[in-house]
Amino acid sequence: MQGDIERVLIPRERIAARVAEMGEQIAEDLRRAVEAEGHDAAERGHVVMLPVLTGALIFTSDLIRNMPLKLSLGMVAVSSYPGKSMESKGASLRSELPKDLSGKHVVVVDDILDTGNTLKLVRDVVAEQSPASVRVCTLLTKRIEGYTAPIEADYSGFDIPDEFVVGYGLDYDGLYRNLPDIAVLRREAL
Ligand code: PRP
Repeated sequence: MQGDIERVLIPRERIAARVAEMGEQIAEDLRRAVEAEGHDAAERGHVVMLPVLTGALIFTSDLIRNMPLKLSLGMVAVSSYPGKSMESKGASLRSELPKDLSGKHVVVVDDILDTGNTLKLVRDVVAEQSPASVRVCTLLTKRIEGYTAPIEADYSGFDIPDEFVVGYGLDYDGLYRNLPDIAVLRREAL
């Protein structure tokens, strides 16, 4: 597996440091939001983390362990479908949302914002459930020249160039999610 890597883009130590920072920041913002409504953030039932399967699993598991806050964990499955241009690529829900998002502070979590279609779709369907708030968190945001995504994440760990990356949850054809670093694959591995 390691032989398929051309170069490491973001090493595991940088990922860990940034994820810890993000977790603390998000938890603090959520605590303030819950308290601003007159609730006690130590009560259950105010915060739901909603990872987008499958890529967000590893990021989410590290992120929430850096969030010293009472929260529950939902999940949602989305299919992205290819299009010829960035604009024609799309996404559709493959699972139902958790039923009880009304009045909750929801954080949608994904590993990467590429075209942005996946996170826009999930944010919009969550918003229809009358949550108290919906925030979007991604580890990576791909910056593509000449393309403006339809959504900007509220929290983003790293901007990356327009390259195909794997590791830390991100796959190529279902593989490489278990690489601890975020890396670019050798051309021969694709
Ligand atoms: C990937 C990634 C994001 C999405 C981002 O998921 O995990 O969910 O694509 O792309 P977008 O911004 O262009 O919509 P994928 O559909 O490959 O499934 P996976 O999570 O199972 O890897």
